Amino acid sequence: MTARSALITGITGQDGSYLAKFLLDKGYEVHGLRRRVSQPHIERLASYGLRDEGASGGIVLHYGDMTDSSSINRIISEVRPHEIYNLAAQSHVRVSFDTAEYTNNVNATGTMRILDALRNARVVDKTRFYQASSSEMFGNAGRIPQDEQTPFEPQSPYAVSKLNAHWSTVNFRNGYGLHASCGILFNHESARRSPTFVTRKITRAVARYQADRGQTLKLGNLEARRDWGHAPEYVEVMWTILQQEIPDDYVIGTGETQSVRTFTELAFEAVGRQIEWTGAGVDEQGVDASSGELLVAIDPYYFRPTEVNYLQANPAKAERKLQWKASTKIGELVRIMVAADIADLDATNVDES
Ligand code: NAP
Ligand code: GDD
Repeated sequence: MTARSALITGITGQDGSYLAKFLLDKGYEVHGLRRRVSQPHIERLASYGLRDEGASGGIVLHYGDMTDSSSINRIISEVRPHEIYNLAAQSHVRVSFDTAEYTNNVNATGTMRILDALRNARVVDKTRFYQASSSEMFGNAGRIPQDEQTPFEPQSPYAVSKLNAHWSTVNFRNGYGLHASCGILFNHESARRSPTFVTRKITRAVARYQADRGQTLKLGNLEARRDWGHAPEYVEVMWTILQQEIPDDYVIGTGETQSVRTFTELAFEAVGRQIEWTGAGVDEQGVDASSGELLVAIDPYYFRPTEVNYLQANPAKAERKLQWKASTKIGELVRIMVAADIADLDATNVDES
């Protein structure tokens, strides 16, 4: 019997790399879309083995870009995958305010390019499609917790682009019978998280303090609350969603929420430091309660024109229908990330904007 095949867009990212490994372990033939960059960056995949087309084992990477419909059409008609996981995105919310048109091109029009390519290749009835939707789409919905019925109120170009892709996916499901599903995932983190997201930025800063290379950690809004889970558990549910007979959309999260302030405190506690907060607003500072060393300061650069204040999932549908439940709690997640960054202090010159 020939192996099932999967095409992952965004395979070089946090989720893409975990998903690639998960599918390889299940015996899939895994294909990935990679874009051309001046400095190759496939470290997250290197240990899984890469192969040239035609050989066996490992992952096949295809050059293409979400902004380039000709490459997307070519890859889909050549690979004709059983499953597509559309994870590629300009995924940084604050950056999306600076690159709104580009973000929309990659995230929204890029998704439509894939959906249209499925029609062009006449594989709408053969290929299952997973869309990486986001809890950011809820924005400031005003309802806590958020579930599949909560109205969307996006607060950033990123969230608007994701909502466009979400509805395009639903439209193809309803209009063309495509087996298309959206996972509305709440924040999920790991040692592979890009250092420009707040959790990894914090855990890397803590690791540097431990190595006596600490520099004041500059953060934006400390009060924003997120439902943070552990990424490897979240890619497993992407696969489970595509194995359902009837395509559908699911909220995926832990059901618990913490503030950026609490995450920061937990991360420093993981190395035995207590933070004492002094001052208010942009003058607020976090100092080491025993030594008085300045650990955290506020930098308005990290504020967003419009913020999402409170995200907390109600994952009851996923628990009931997919038998999926997040198992890693926030304390353990913080410890995993801090420990990994202490073990790998070799990346000091990273732009953390
Ligand atoms: P990530 O680490 O930022 O990875 C994004 C991936 O998209 C990378 O492989 C990136 O390639 C690729 N990409 C970006 N622009 C592209 C383009 N123009 N053409 C082709 N590929 C492009 O994101 P992630 O955390 O793994 O998230 C995966 C997906 O889930 C994203 O769609 C994200 O928006 C969504 N999501 C994430 C979370 C979360 O908490 N992590 C929650 C909800 C939804 P390069 O490596 O070349 O940059
Ligand atoms: N990045 C960053 N850097 N965020 C900061 C900082 C900082 O220095 N200081 C405070 N924050 C606050 C942000 O304002 C936001 O409220 C919160 O920390 C989380 O920010 P991010 O870690 O950048 O993630 P996000 O929630 O905006 O977006 C992530 O999760 C979404 C799911 O809800 C991304 O992974 C998105 O792609 C994903 O869709």
